[in-house]
Amino acid sequence: MAYTLEHCLRSRQDFPALVKNPGLAFLDGPGGSQVPRCVVEAIADVYASCNVNTHGNFAPSREVDRRMENARSVVATFLGAESGSCISFGQSMTTLSFNLSAAIGRTLDKGDEVLVTQLDHEGNRGPWLGLQERGIVVREVRLMESGELDPADMAAKITSRTKLFAIGASANSLGTVNDIALARRLTRQVGALLVVDAVHYAPHFPLDVQALGCDFLLCSGYKFYGPHVGVLYSRPGALDRLPTDRLSVQDPAAPYRIETGTLNHAAIDGVRAAIDFIAGWGSGSTLRERIVDAMTHISGYEHDLARYYYDAVRGIPGVRVWGPDFATGRARAPTVSITLEKATAGHAAIALGEQGICVWDGDFYAARPVQVLGLAERGGLLRTGISMYNTRDELNRLLAGIERLT
Ligand SMILES: Cc1ncc(COP(=O)(O)O)c(C=O)c1O
Repeated sequence: MAYTLEHCLRSRQDFPALVKNPGLAFLDGPGGSQVPRCVVEAIADVYASCNVNTHGNFAPSREVDRRMENARSVVATFLGAESGSCISFGQSMTTLSFNLSAAIGRTLDKGDEVLVTQLDHEGNRGPWLGLQERGIVVREVRLMESGELDPADMAAKITSRTKLFAIGASANSLGTVNDIALARRLTRQVGALLVVDAVHYAPHFPLDVQALGCDFLLCSGYKFYGPHVGVLYSRPGALDRLPTDRLSVQDPAAPYRIETGTLNHAAIDGVRAAIDFIAGWGSGSTLRERIVDAMTHISGYEHDLARYYYDAVRGIPGVRVWGPDFATGRARAPTVSITLEKATAGHAAIALGEQGICVWDGDFYAARPVQVLGLAERGGLLRTGISMYNTRDELNRLLAGIERLT
């Protein structure tokens, strides 16, 4: 099934926030997407039917157990994972990333090296940079002016001392899609772990963790039409012996080994509902086929819109576009960031916000790329993100607003 403007306009009816606020153009998906009605209903239904703890010997508890295991299985299908026992939940990607780095850090020795990148969100840098306190050496892959990572620098910095490489699948600041296959080849040669931050990738492309061959992958439900829940995929066996922070009374098996305290059951069922919603836009005989079909077509729709905006905005005098050029034909997320000669990103976002156009400004916690590109003192970037519910009309409103600022 294709995903066209007609499907987009139909999907908009499913998002209460869009129906309620017809004058608002939500072009801030990379900061968090809107949620469809079925997600709101799924969350409410947990509170209405099984708002009890897990593993009790009574019916509502068995029901919440069933929903949690079903959610693990649906998220596993979304990510192309082996099974639901590869899927752990947490408060956010950042929380899970800290938990993972603390556990892996305990297995490393002084002088071991961890590699991060200059392009990543702090959520995939800070937890690893923190290991420097334990004597771990943290190195960075260089970001080039084009908005892409330098592959030669990556190859040079993955050595026999490298124990782990943490890299984003796609950059929330510039829309870059990184070469994870290269990262996997290089890390395999030296036996290093590969941790992939797919927070910005998961809403825009079908994911297949087994094809990527990563050891760990993280994403976040609120970026793909769900609520605020962090998701960690662990390759079978990868989590089982890690010395995670956990209670002695807690289930030590994967995927529970890294989950602390009582989870947000309602939100987790909301993530399941978001994935079912996405799958509803695809065809196929299995859930996986429907997810991949839907994501492929939504991805194409978003890409065309982003390309339209990219080509138009770069033609406006006084605008500079950052991030990889669409003309290269390489995979790229539908996220386009600009700077303006006559206004800071902050001033532009305020002016556009007054016109009902929701775009983000600054560094979006991707502080390192903004600093490396020399934009930190200038107020950072003005970022437009395209989601499945955005239209060309909204982008035309944004373009007209930007023209008024030049
Ligand atoms: C690429 C990327 N990584 C990590 C994060 C952090 O995710 P969370 O808010 O779930 O901690 C974000 C959030 O914006 C992000 O865009």
